[in-house]
Amino acid sequence: MHSITVEPCTFALFGALGDLALRKLFPALYQLDGAQLLHEDTRIIALAREPGSEQQHLAFIAAELRRYVGDKDLDEAVVERFLARLTYLHVDFLKADDYVALAEQAGSAQQVIAYFATPAAVYGAICENLAKVGLSENTRVVLEKPIGSDLESSRKVNDAVAQFFPENRTYRIDHYLGKETVQNLIALRFANSLFETQWNQNYISHVEITVAEKVGIEGRWGYFDKAGQLRDMIQNHLLQLLCLIAMDPPADLSADSIRDEKVKVLKALAPISPEGLTTQVVRGQYIAGHSEGKAVPGYLEEPNSNTQSDTETFVALRADIRNWRWAGVPFYLRTGKRMPQKLSQIVIHFKEPSHYIFAPEQRLQISNKLIIRLQPDEGISLRVMTKEQGLDKGMQLRSGPLQLNFSDTWRSARIPDAYERLLLEVMNGNQNLFVRKDEIEAAWTWCDQLIAGWKKSGDAPKPYAAGSWGPMSSIALITRDGRSWYGDI
Ligand code: BG6
Repeated sequence: MHSITVEPCTFALFGALGDLALRKLFPALYQLDGAQLLHEDTRIIALAREPGSEQQHLAFIAAELRRYVGDKDLDEAVVERFLARLTYLHVDFLKADDYVALAEQAGSAQQVIAYFATPAAVYGAICENLAKVGLSENTRVVLEKPIGSDLESSRKVNDAVAQFFPENRTYRIDHYLGKETVQNLIALRFANSLFETQWNQNYISHVEITVAEKVGIEGRWGYFDKAGQLRDMIQNHLLQLLCLIAMDPPADLSADSIRDEKVKVLKALAPISPEGLTTQVVRGQYIAGHSEGKAVPGYLEEPNSNTQSDTETFVALRADIRNWRWAGVPFYLRTGKRMPQKLSQIVIHFKEPSHYIFAPEQRLQISNKLIIRLQPDEGISLRVMTKEQGLDKGMQLRSGPLQLNFSDTWRSARIPDAYERLLLEVMNGNQNLFVRKDEIEAAWTWCDQLIAGWKKSGDAPKPYAAGSWGPMSSIALITRDGRSWYGDI
């Protein structure tokens, strides 16, 4: 979207010993270093509250870095260069005095980036303490999700941050926006007049967005049980994907032009009525089943679980967008843990030709589909109808793909992890892959009415076996409209 420049910065990572930092953020910074995308003067300060010596924590971070980067991508020369940038500071996030050492280390850095990989409850306190030690003027703050658990709590967090940092220096992460194919979605839509002319209710019958994960909740029960799949995945990742599919073309690629269009979509989402809660929305919770041929426990049998929990691990729903472009085009969203495979994909189903001239029994397969695969096997494929080859085949039709597979097409290039792109964008001060405050609030407003409806109905989530595609009612949800989930096996 813009040329890459590499400005020096001091990168202060709060929550540096947590899972996200170790699994994603250090490896992403390492990859940027390897690609020569960190300025030689860039410094990284790991901040955490765990007791222990600097040496001990740095050794741990280095070992975890090697583990998560993996042998294939490990270059010891880059590891050494990367570790030489790194220092560790012990901080109690709530104590202003503990930030003095950070201010000293940041010194006269032109640009400080403060990344909060901590619970959102302490974001406000961290911001206040950064300001107290004089680190607010030239600092960008990066906020990890979840920001709150409903509209009210997210406002509290955002308002606390806004007291010290303006919106144009606040970067709210939704890591799905950094995924390669999501970026390509913008290119596909707005660099090809072919699609944009068809991108409306005249030509599209419905849209599916599936984000399925094979893993269960395992060690994350404590966090997840308070959130559930609606807050954890729909409120952010799936609604962001929906916005990118449904938004009008922005005037330009600036952050605010794109975000203005996304907010309009969120505000146009039809609220779901109490009746709609039973016909349009399905909540599920996995019970014991099989994954990769092995028996796996149900959600309520995971270690440290509360056996009475009614938190959902699966949601399928039909969303409708009330505007000229999308009137009458349902968006079916589906996401769950312990599904048969890890799969994130968007399927755009085009309408049938208005006048049908082929054999009637072939009619069912005759609609073009644009399949945008985020993971695995990133790529875009357009299913088109052609004729079977051969003298004996007559006008027998078949559906085949016009395929663009990113990992095959540019085989030499490693597909960067979403966090690599996002960190680079923060360093470059580019906000268009980050979520603005009003987007988060509009998304919460829509999700809050669903959560309130569930609470009122008191209905328990529907069970589904681990390793399946969710409760049977999620199939009924779409077949009721005469359709089916694409590619379920
Ligand atoms: C996170 C959710 O935001 O996204 C997790 O909190 C989920 O529950 C993860 O597992 C999925 O991300 P990805 O990139 O693996 O699809």
